[in-house]
Amino acid sequence: MDKIIINGGKKLKGVVTISGSKNAALPILISTLLTDDRCEIRNVPDLEDVNTVISLLRHLGKEIKKNKDRIIISKGDNICSDAPYDLVCKMRASVLVAGPLIARFKKAKISLPGGCAIGIRPINIHLDGFKRLGVKYVIKEGDISLKAKKMVASKIILDFPSVGATENLLMLSTLVKGETIIENAAMEPEIIDLANFLNKCGAKISGIGTKKIIVNGIKKLNGCTYTVMPDRIETGTYIISSAITSGDIKITNLIQEHNESLIEKIKLAGVKIYQKNSFLNIKGINKIKSIDIETQVFPGFPTDLQPLLMALMTIAKGESVITETIFENRLQTVGELVRMGADIKIKGNSAVISGVKKLTGTKVVASDLRSSAALILAGLAAKGKTEITGLEHLYRGYENIVGKLKNLGADIKLIKEGYLKKGESV
Ligand code: EPZ
Repeated sequence: MDKIIINGGKKLKGVVTISGSKNAALPILISTLLTDDRCEIRNVPDLEDVNTVISLLRHLGKEIKKNKDRIIISKGDNICSDAPYDLVCKMRASVLVAGPLIARFKKAKISLPGGCAIGIRPINIHLDGFKRLGVKYVIKEGDISLKAKKMVASKIILDFPSVGATENLLMLSTLVKGETIIENAAMEPEIIDLANFLNKCGAKISGIGTKKIIVNGIKKLNGCTYTVMPDRIETGTYIISSAITSGDIKITNLIQEHNESLIEKIKLAGVKIYQKNSFLNIKGINKIKSIDIETQVFPGFPTDLQPLLMALMTIAKGESVITETIFENRLQTVGELVRMGADIKIKGNSAVISGVKKLTGTKVVASDLRSSAALILAGLAAKGKTEITGLEHLYRGYENIVGKLKNLGADIKLIKEGYLKKGESV
C-alpha cells in the first residue's frame, strides 16, 4: 500500500504554481458530449479523476488524445449512452453525463452514484430538475434510466444550490428549445467556468455567477479551445500549508477572488497575506490565533477547505469552533488529528478545538480527498515522523502535491507500493 512519510517542523519557503481546477475540468470535459465537434481543453490537471472521466468519455464513444495538460476530444465511432457502475462508483461526478446524454440522445442509463465518506450524496435535486424539463426516469437494480420524448424549457427552482445539479441542468438546457431559468442556482466559480466554456461553444447562457441562470436553448453546439481556471481548493491548501508551518511562500497562477473567504479568515488568525497582482505571499507567524468558521456555499467558507482549516486550528492559541453545514459526515478528520495529539470534541455538526502547543507525528489513515490533504498539513507541522496511508483518495484530486511540497522545503516522500503505476507522480 502506498504511503507518505513526513518529518515535520520545516518552515515552507519558495514559490508554488497552482494547477487547473479539478472541479471545473470534470464538468467541462463531460460537457463535450454536447457536441460532435473537436474540443481542446487546456490546463487540465493530471489526476485520477481526470483519467476516470477520459475512460468514461471513451466508453461513451469519444476519441481522446492527451498531451500533458491538453486534452483533445473528438467524435469516435460507437456512441453509447450508458454510464457503467465500475466507472460511476470511482467518481461520483460521473452522474454529470446525464444532462449531456439526454440533451443529445434523449436518453441515458447511469448507475446510481453511491455515497462516499462525507455523505450519502443523493441526486434528488438533479432528478427534480430533469422532471421539470420533461424527462422521465425509472430506478431499477441500482441503475437509473432516463428518457425524454419531448423536452420543454421551464423555470426550475432548486431546493438547495447544489453544484452538481446546477451543472447537470445547465448542460441539458443548452439544447432545449426555449428559455429555461434555473433559480437558486449554485454560484461556485466552477459553474462560471463551465458556463463560459459552453458559451464559447455557442450556447446562450446569461446570469452566469448569479443565483438566477437563464438559458436560451439552441439546436447545436460547436467545438472550441478552452483553458480551465486555476484550482481554488488547491490554492487554499497551499495558503494553509504556509500558515501551519510558519512559512513564507508565494503562490502564482491563482484567482485571488476565489479565496476571499479563506484569506479574510486566515488574516483574523494573524497570518500575514500580501496580495500582489500576479501572486499571493503568505507569511505564517509563530502562534496563530484561533478563529471560528461555518462552511457555506460560495462565496462563504468552502466545505472543501474545512478539514484543512481544522488541522491549522489544532495548534492555534485558544478555542475555535468549526461548523460543517454542507455535508452530514465531513468531520471524520477529527479522529486522526486526535491521534496526532489534537484536542478536539465533536458537538453535533461542530468540532470544538482547543489549541495544543505541538502535534506529534504518528501513523494515520486518510478517509477522503480533503482529509488526506489535512493530514499532510498536520504532518508538516508535527514533531517527528508522520506516516499517511489511504492515498487512493489523494491521487484523485491533487496534482503532484508531494513534489510541490518538496520544492517548498518539506521533508516529505512518497513510498509507492503498488497503487500508482511506475513513474506516475502525485
Ligand atoms: C461538488 O460536489 C464538488 N465536487 C465537491 O467537492 C464540493 O464539496 C461540493 O460541490 C460543494 O461545494 C465536484 O465538483 C466534482 P452539491 P456536489 O451537489 O456537486 C446535497 C472535493 O473534495 N444534495 O453542491 O456533489 C448533498 O448531499 C469534492 O473536490 C442533495 O441533497 O455537491 C450535499 O449535502 C467533495 N441532493 C449538498 O447538497 C442533490 O440532488 C451539496 O452538494 C444534490 C446535492
